[in-house]
Amino acid sequence: MQTSSSPLDQALALLKAGELVGIPTETVYGLAADASQPDAVAKIFAMKGRPADHPVIVHIAGRDQLSDWAQNIPDAAWKLADAFWPGSLTLILQRKAHVPDAVTGGQDTVGLRAPAHPLTHELLQRFGGGLAAPSANQFGHVSPTTAQHVFNEFGEKLGLILDGGPCQVGVESTIVGLTSEHPTLLRPGGVPAEAIEAVLGVKLIHHEKPSTANLRVSGLLDSHYAPRTPLLVGPLGALENEATRRLETGERIALLHRSHMLKAVHGVTAHAMPMMAEPYARDLYATLRQFDNGQFDVLLLETPPQEANWLAVNDRVKRAASGWLG
Ligand code: TXA
Ligand code: MG
Repeated sequence: MQTSSSPLDQALALLKAGELVGIPTETVYGLAADASQPDAVAKIFAMKGRPADHPVIVHIAGRDQLSDWAQNIPDAAWKLADAFWPGSLTLILQRKAHVPDAVTGGQDTVGLRAPAHPLTHELLQRFGGGLAAPSANQFGHVSPTTAQHVFNEFGEKLGLILDGGPCQVGVESTIVGLTSEHPTLLRPGGVPAEAIEAVLGVKLIHHEKPSTANLRVSGLLDSHYAPRTPLLVGPLGALENEATRRLETGERIALLHRSHMLKAVHGVTAHAMPMMAEPYARDLYATLRQFDNGQFDVLLLETPPQEANWLAVNDRVKRAASGWLG
């Protein structure tokens, strides 16, 4: 490889050659491969340790590429693409026949998203095709929101990580299913459900959690997004009691709270989380990673507000939690 070429040029060359590249998006970093090369896509599953029947999202430059991958595209898809692309919305549509099974997990649908991050947007425009990319983390682990996080996951095994700075949204894209009669919210995320409903003029059906037996949307697995240190979630009072109890046995405790009035508890490392939903989402994974560093026996997290604009945050907290208090 020429050392004088830009990281973007290097990324393009690697992707064309069927190799993996870490890419920034506004939601989380992705582990990308050329979606038209099944062997390249297979490398994603191998590197992540992810079951091969889980579908991956195909990232495209914009609405003009939609019909390269999907067919029988309903009006709702065009409306949503026009309203939210490039952005943190993934549409599940009927796939075109050429889309590899490695991408769709053998299903007759394909997930499509045009990410807004300028570096990856430019990469996709120059690439022309689609990039299959799940979040760039080991299966089940917390998603990465910086290039350093991606490096921490895969080290030198991943030849190139495009550094696009910290992700501005911080939680994964909203996934909307458009293959049945009625649009369905499959995963809350960067784009609020209400904004989607406003564009479509209908309420979204909220996806019922399926049994693990037929689970295909891997983001719905409860073990997802989890730090390695036990994470207990609850109201502040219950966390303070738990901290006091655990201090007696000499445990090392981190308390992630949203209180201006927290009384310092000697021996407990307190960290104030953002008060508003958007900055909270942006910081959540980075904070979990920061405190999941082996220096604590338990992480105690104050339950976020149970309000509509906190839906994505609460969804991720629920999956990251190993237990509930109070
Ligand atoms: O923000 C995001 O969506 C990030 C960035 C990198 O774009 N990607 C991401 O990918 O979160 P991943 O693979 O970690 O989660 C994508 C979710 C999975 O739960 C997958 O099962 C689901 O999308 N998915 C992909 N294609 C699908 C399909 N055809 N039908 C149903 N679910 C699908
Ligand atoms: Mg993921």
